Amino acid sequence: MPASPSPGSTAGLVFRPATAADYPAICGLINDEDELFLVYPRGRFPLTEAQLTELATQRRGFTVGERRGEVVAFANFYDFSPAGHAFIGNLVVAATQRRRGLGRRLVEHMLERAREDYRLAAVRISVFADNTPALLLYGAAGFVPCGMEERRDPRGRRRALLHMEKRLTPPAEGREADIEMDGQG
Ligand SMILES: CC(C)(COP(=O)(O)OP(=O)(O)OC[C@H]1O[C@@H](n2cnc3c(N)ncnc32)[C@H](O)[C@@H]1OP(=O)(O)O)[C@@H](O)C(=O)NCCC(=O)NCCS
Repeated sequence: MPASPSPGSTAGLVFRPATAADYPAICGLINDEDELFLVYPRGRFPLTEAQLTELATQRRGFTVGERRGEVVAFANFYDFSPAGHAFIGNLVVAATQRRRGLGRRLVEHMLERAREDYRLAAVRISVFADNTPALLLYGAAGFVPCGMEERRDPRGRRRALLHMEKRLTPPAEGREADIEMDGQG
């Protein structure tokens, strides 16, 4: 997959497949336990290279956004269904780089990979209902709510996890029946 340059306030931003050499920098994108819960609800803070190594055996398309040699964003795919959908997961932009359009570019890039590399019919993403920046980002990208489940955060508080979907192509008949609702962030 070729790195793609970006215009405007995301100038110099490129997306590329992550390697194990990126894991320390990816871990550094997560600032605290609350943020890790938003990005990876099943993760244990602090995020470690060992957790990412394990995650890489379960997920695909580990992708980093890089700017001036610095890893500034991360995302991947999980829960590929035979029906032709998968979830985007672990999506995060470095705290110092937010509100500059990187998150939007990362979502667009993952949608492009979903279409071109994985030929998916639909992409899903799970987001806690109180995560306003992410909810608005996904809504603006064309995702619409399609389900919800209850989760407990590390402090035992009840949290609503919203599932959102963006269809990439018209669904074939019968696909809905195969869609699972795992949503692990
Ligand atoms: C959610 C996140 C990825 C957004 O990244 P970002 O680079 O700041 O987002 P962008 O600058 O591309 O913003 C794109 C859109 O997202 C929404 N958005 C982003 N940050 C927002 C904020 N603080 N408040 C309100 N809306 C926000 C807006 O709709 C924005 O469009 P606009 O600039 O036209 O208003 C980033 O805040 C982040 O990493 N948060 C912590 C981890 C996390 O919650 N990940 C998502 C897990 S589901």
